[in-house]
Amino acid sequence: MRLSALIPALCCTAALVLSFLCLFAGNKENFMEDYHLLTLNTSRIGENLLNSSTSGNSDNTISNLFHNITNSISNKINDAAGDLAEKLGVDDFYSAHILDYCYGDYVPTPLANATVSSSDIHKNVTRCSNRTAMFHFDPTEALQRSLNQSGVDITLDDLQWPKDIQNGIDAIKILQETVFVLYCISIGLIFLALIAAFPALIAAGRMAACLNVMVASVAFIAIGLASAIVTAFIVKGSHLINKYGNEIGVEAHRGGRFLAITWAATALMFITLLLWCFETCIGHRRKERYVAPKRG
Ligand SMILES: *[C@@H]1O[C@H](CO)[C@@H](O)[C@H](O)[C@H]1NC(C)=O
Ligand SMILES: *[C@@H]1O[C@H](CO)[C@@H](O)[C@H](O)[C@H]1NC(C)=O
Ligand SMILES: *[C@@H]1O[C@H](CO)[C@@H](O)[C@H](O)[C@H]1NC(C)=O
Ligand SMILES: *[C@@H]1O[C@H](CO)[C@@H](O)[C@H](O)[C@H]1NC(C)=O
Ligand SMILES: *[C@@H]1O[C@H](CO)[C@@H](O)[C@H](O)[C@H]1NC(C)=O
Ligand SMILES: *[C@@H]1O[C@H](CO)[C@@H](O)[C@H](O)[C@H]1NC(C)=O
Ligand SMILES: *[C@@H]1O[C@H](CO)[C@@H](O)[C@H](O)[C@H]1NC(C)=O
Repeated sequence: MRLSALIPALCCTAALVLSFLCLFAGNKENFMEDYHLLTLNTSRIGENLLNSSTSGNSDNTISNLFHNITNSISNKINDAAGDLAEKLGVDDFYSAHILDYCYGDYVPTPLANATVSSSDIHKNVTRCSNRTAMFHFDPTEALQRSLNQSGVDITLDDLQWPKDIQNGIDAIKILQETVFVLYCISIGLIFLALIAAFPALIAAGRMAACLNVMVASVAFIAIGLASAIVTAFIVKGSHLINKYGNEIGVEAHRGGRFLAITWAATALMFITLLLWCFETCIGHRRKERYVAPKRG
């Protein structure tokens, strides 16, 4: 039993758990919702229409429509200052995960005010979409689905939903599909690396450690690639949603915690690899020391 081989085996186990969590975070309601890839905050969607309707631009049919909605709910337009999304029939947030997306409302209120600080605001997930392999997040479809279900007679065109968001998201959907495949491959390879660690725990030879170096390097490359591509998806996706969405009151939040766990898994595989390299050298030296007296 080689105790020094236990540490890389433990690192490998931790990396396996983390990459599982990356793949399955948010796959059902309230399961690791904070580990989203990115979240669309639509709680102020239509803010631009509210602004134009309050500024007296009433010959515009869209602002007329909007005026009617806000009037039907309350006579004071200021009452709409909190939750516009609710009145328009969409949810407060839409969060993309690897296998699905979830949506729901911010509780107690989407906007921080004097009594409710922003750290007190939490997501209350209503539903998640069906789990799909090679899922790609389509914000237009998600919003359209909510509007269809709400029964409020408003279309995305009324909300001036920018086409550029859809075009941009379509351009990077390949990234999200690739990421799913890469996580599956990584999980398989990390599992293989864990199995390969058992012979090295028992046998003290250089061969077992050397085999582990090979398996661990491939697993490290796979999880590193998955992390790099998912990072590109998150950064690019939130950038373009903020670029085109801010003018209609939509903003995107990056999934910082998801990035933290995926890169932690990558770092753990790197440490595993380094430790196996170290083991290979130590195993080599032990053997030499053992053989040396015989020769001399
Ligand atoms: C709407 O007006 C408010 C202030 O009147 C401003 O803070 C906000 O940025 C405007 N929103 C948009 C989308 O123009
Ligand atoms: C808004 O309400 C007014 C009457 O209150 C009505 O004449 C007008 O057609 C409504 N506009 C829309 C877009 O529904
Ligand atoms: C949602 O977005 C609005 C404006 O776009 C912002 O004021 C609000 O703080 C955001 N809410 C959360 C919970 O991030
Ligand atoms: C802040 O928002 C909460 C929840 O909507 C509300 O109950 C409270 O009165 C608000 N506080 C202020 C100062 O507007
Ligand atoms: C969360 O939403 C559910 C309905 O989807 C509701 O019953 C529950 O009260 C909400 N939780 C909070 C804290 O508002
Ligand atoms: C989700 O799956 C259920 C049955 O498993 C199906 O009835 C429903 O239509 C599916 N929803 C979507 C959006 O595909
Ligand atoms: C929403 O409804 C329209 C027609 O009312 C339909 O064409 C569209 O496919 C629906 N979209 C979703 C996502 O259900």
